[in-house]
Amino acid sequence: MICLAFLVATRGDVAPTFQNDRVALEARVESLLSAMTLDEKLSQIHGDSKFTTAAIPRLGIPRRWMSDGPHGVREDVGPDTWNPAGRTDDFATYMPANICLAASWDAELANRYGTTIGQEARARGKHIMLGPGMNIMRTPLNGRNFEYFGEDPFLASRMAVGYIAGAQSQGISSCAKHFLGNNQEVQRGSINVEMDERTLREIYLPAFKAAVQEAGVWSVMGAYNRFRGQYCCHNELILNQILKKEWGFRGLVMTDWGGAHSTKESVLNGLDLEMGTNTSYDRFFLANPFKAGLASGEYSMALLDDKVRRNLRVMIATGALDHRPTGGSLNTAEHQQTARKVAEAGIVLLKNTNDLLPLDAKRIRSIAVIGDSANRKFGYGGGSAGIKAFYEVTPLEGILRKAGDQATVTFAQGYQVPTRRAFGGPDVTGINPAEAAKAAEATRKLLLDRAVQAARSADVAVLFVGLNHNRNSDTEGSDRVDMNLQNGQDELIQRVTAANRNTVVVLIAGAPVAMSKWLPKSKALLLAWYPGMEGGNAIAATLFGDVNPSGKLPCTFPKRLEDSPAHALGAYPGKDGLESYTEGLLVGYRWFDEKKIEPEFPFGFGLSYSKFEYSAASVAVGPDSVMVELDVKNVSTRDGSEVVEIYVAPRQSKLMRPQQELKGFTKLMVKAGQTGHAKVHLPMASFAYYDPAVRSWVVDAGTYDVRIGASSRDVRSTANVTFRTSMLLKD
Ligand code: BGC
Repeated sequence: MICLAFLVATRGDVAPTFQNDRVALEARVESLLSAMTLDEKLSQIHGDSKFTTAAIPRLGIPRRWMSDGPHGVREDVGPDTWNPAGRTDDFATYMPANICLAASWDAELANRYGTTIGQEARARGKHIMLGPGMNIMRTPLNGRNFEYFGEDPFLASRMAVGYIAGAQSQGISSCAKHFLGNNQEVQRGSINVEMDERTLREIYLPAFKAAVQEAGVWSVMGAYNRFRGQYCCHNELILNQILKKEWGFRGLVMTDWGGAHSTKESVLNGLDLEMGTNTSYDRFFLANPFKAGLASGEYSMALLDDKVRRNLRVMIATGALDHRPTGGSLNTAEHQQTARKVAEAGIVLLKNTNDLLPLDAKRIRSIAVIGDSANRKFGYGGGSAGIKAFYEVTPLEGILRKAGDQATVTFAQGYQVPTRRAFGGPDVTGINPAEAAKAAEATRKLLLDRAVQAARSADVAVLFVGLNHNRNSDTEGSDRVDMNLQNGQDELIQRVTAANRNTVVVLIAGAPVAMSKWLPKSKALLLAWYPGMEGGNAIAATLFGDVNPSGKLPCTFPKRLEDSPAHALGAYPGKDGLESYTEGLLVGYRWFDEKKIEPEFPFGFGLSYSKFEYSAASVAVGPDSVMVELDVKNVSTRDGSEVVEIYVAPRQSKLMRPQQELKGFTKLMVKAGQTGHAKVHLPMASFAYYDPAVRSWVVDAGTYDVRIGASSRDVRSTANVTFRTSMLLKD
């Protein structure tokens, strides 16, 4: 403070209000705003490099640093290119992908996850972290599903709130993205998304609303696409009306990079900070073009001031103006443990015939570890979510550490993944495609034979298959073309499981894949997502039973792509630049329930090495909420955790409603043979739908089943509540 006072207050007069960190936020904002020149104000509402805004030393305003992304603090690039800055101090803890975090169904863990991100952001000198992403999984093909929290708005909300509260507790701003409707990467920069009002309110807005109203997120990033005809980065309805007016958001709205398209709309429709890829920063819409409009009188100064205020508010609220000490920490033992804990809690056991898992390390003499994914590092890939990890324990390394002393561990690659092009880069290999194809076929056969041989000669085969961060896989900028595993993996799984009855398939992927060709013959299947830099250890601990799996699916795994709503209806990927979400509210399990389609694995599904018995649930109706209680007994000899899921199913309704919707959950650790007690609070809003006619949330009078399940398709107990009168809820 003293040194700041020196900068502005030169004649021994009292330091201006904005320099006093004991003064209320709004008063500091106003004081600082009134000290700024026009150019200084303008400098705060657009980038001056890839990830910064300009410093104003005379006012003590620092250069503000932003960084991706959801899974850790990204490597530094630029300043004016996307190329790495080539530093040695920009490594980070590589956390499991957000879809893995969602599979943990543990909001407390989401908070620890966010706290880790916040501490590392502080240590790396960042002010705004560009995440978490919270777009809803509408299609299994979206290239960025791995960065998001799955298909259900309630689960996504809980994860987003935990993550953001944790991150922002460390004096940084999170940035909720991508607002709104960026649910596919195909034509992400132009597609116009249309959906009805209920779908908007009930499916696509809730996670953002919770981020704003419950977690108090300081920044929101507009999506690249359009919504109801207008680009989301300057969209009157979603930014001005909904986010700012209805929800009372006081922070800043930034563009996705290069997501602004017009000065007028940027000025008028709720954008506060323009970031981009173009390096002519003065020509950004909110730079000189806006200045010209201010000079000509086209725009009022109040419009500029509102944007600047929002930027200053975030800056002051996160301590940036107060020369906060660097603080934070990188790659601590605690961060590593959190990364590992999330991976362990998010791994989902999908199949375990005859209790093949956990493996008994004492009795197994040889293990064949098979598959390219066993020995591949994933941290760096996927686009903006990529991390330059301090280290990354691969599954093969994890298994060697865990069992390498007692058993012979062999490795066979099994299949080959074509070399990854640099993100967005051209193919510069210069290899003749025809020759490459011939060689690839020969290699494919060789790798397959070796894998089969390895499987045959081992007591157990652990086969790692899945997706990766290449183009048309789990990555930004493109979607997958279908749900199939690529590069001959289906055949590999079939051959390896035939060669060794004790084959465990481990899937490394951020989204559903087709399994019908091999699942019936596979005895055990574990879904590890992208489990972060401790992933190999977490997988090995799960395989050998040190960790009891407790993750559950945050998305439906369809048997076939055509079973999932946007594909069944031919809505995806849109036509002539327009994508109508004709499935409406029936996203994910809501569709499968309504249409009575059997999925491969339902939403909320996940096995454990323990067995749990649920008692009958009781419900108690209070004045503004319903309390659901039940006991869960662990009837096995292993300690374990169980996610108890609560779905609300209206028996009647004025408007069409999904058959059931997730409205609560809790994760209980129950020791072997003991009983845990689940207590879940359902606010009245859990029973409501959005009625566009009255522009409000409504609870109809009548009876509602409250289903308590181990998955959306495994209901263990049903209770019900009856409301005698209808209720209109305050939004
Ligand atoms: C992505 C954002 C990211 C930004 C900055 C964009 O292409 O969509 O999620 O935060 O780049 O890297």
